[in-house]
Amino acid sequence: SLVVKRRMESAGQWARAVAILRELEEKCAAPASKLRQVADAMAVEMHAGLASDGGSKLNMIISYVDNLPTGSEQLQRLSSKACCPAAQVVPTRAAGTKSVGGARTGPRITSPIHFVPAAQELFDYIASELAKFVATEGEGFQLSAGRQRELGFTFSFPVRQTSISSGNLIKWTKGFAIEDTVGQDVVSELTKALERKGLDMHVSALVNDTIGTLAGGRYYDEDVVIAVILGTGTNAAYVECANAIPKWHGLLPKSGEMVINMEWGNFKSSHLPTADYDNELDLDSLNPGEQIFEKMISGMYLGDILRRVLLRIAEETALFGDTVPPNLEVPFLLRTPHMSAVHHDTSPDLRAVARTLQDVLGIHNTSLKTRKLVIEVCEVLAKRGARLAAAGVVGILKKLGRDVAPRDGTPMPRTVIAMDGGLFEHYTRFREHMENTLKELLGDDVFSSIVVVHANDGSGLGAALLAASHSQYLEVET
Ligand code: GLC
Repeated sequence: SLVVKRRMESAGQWARAVAILRELEEKCAAPASKLRQVADAMAVEMHAGLASDGGSKLNMIISYVDNLPTGSEQLQRLSSKACCPAAQVVPTRAAGTKSVGGARTGPRITSPIHFVPAAQELFDYIASELAKFVATEGEGFQLSAGRQRELGFTFSFPVRQTSISSGNLIKWTKGFAIEDTVGQDVVSELTKALERKGLDMHVSALVNDTIGTLAGGRYYDEDVVIAVILGTGTNAAYVECANAIPKWHGLLPKSGEMVINMEWGNFKSSHLPTADYDNELDLDSLNPGEQIFEKMISGMYLGDILRRVLLRIAEETALFGDTVPPNLEVPFLLRTPHMSAVHHDTSPDLRAVARTLQDVLGIHNTSLKTRKLVIEVCEVLAKRGARLAAAGVVGILKKLGRDVAPRDGTPMPRTVIAMDGGLFEHYTRFREHMENTLKELLGDDVFSSIVVVHANDGSGLGAALLAASHSQYLEVET
């Protein structure tokens, strides 16, 4: 009878686990009808954010980039092994730095929460990486006499730009929290750090990573009009008509265009399919109520939502053992790359799932059925994130009037979207869901005019090109 009882118990707990999964699926469901509402809301917020500062959750930041690379710029690749600041250097001696908050900048940047005691330390770190770069950039790179080295600074946080080369930090995102920098000009902070290091450098362009990606994408393809980052955080930039920006009071640029950094990570709408896990993650975060879209989509958070779902299963069933595995209670221990490894496991015994559960979470001896369930949770969360990202893109296309075929029968303009970020690059299922959803929402005809390209470290290249085109040594254009 003991055996029978155990079996019943295990049937009961299995039913409980499946119920948790079904409830998650229901809360995270993002059918096309809902995504259309999300896309509409995105387009509405874009209008509001362009009308006035503070008019929307979307900052719609004016980047001061009104002229994008044409592709005729001459690049000189001086150092391919310079992993940190700037792999690309252009003849005018401008270099783009790899972003802070990007994945490859240094050890501090890869951990989920960044307790940097003071801003000075962060900027000193960037300056010292730059010093290393300069020391190793190699032969053949000589500055002409009297010339200052120029820098394109990719800074992947919301900055209210005051010019192409200055701007004040609006707030930190992605787990950074350094009180004393908010409101300050990040370029003067970096400049001070450069001076402390004795580096004679001048920041000639301050760009968000989305802006860099757009500029880098343009270098290769003139039809790039949108850039999306799907990485630790998520954000998008696009090319807007300057006269469609009521809050822009400057001169109308010659090109008639202005690139906008949307900061779409901060988008929020009652149409978003939210589960309790999302609310809990938000409340526990360093920035509750902020970056809601980002918290449902991006690499910093997906792994932690998964952890929260698994924790609930561990609490309510014995599928992961008789007691709750302590590691499941550690925030951000389970990372999105782990989730991706689990999700893509196609081995018959789901070995990678077992290994991740074991090595990261200390959960041993899971059944095949349990491993399959874990994959299903990954699928629900990655699919929701990917579908929401696609809805965001459709919102931009709608704002640009490129989401439907022209009524007069003229062909759709070709629209290229440059994408970058670890999630886009490495999480195949995420990327597939996103592209399939774009197709589903736009229909075959419109979708056939859309090209999604991977702009591999496009932001570094873009920042370098923008630094070159805004060099202090160029004659002022009239
Ligand atoms: C966060 C930042 C944003 C950046 C994005 C991708 O959303 O606020 O500026 O572009 O992450 O790195």
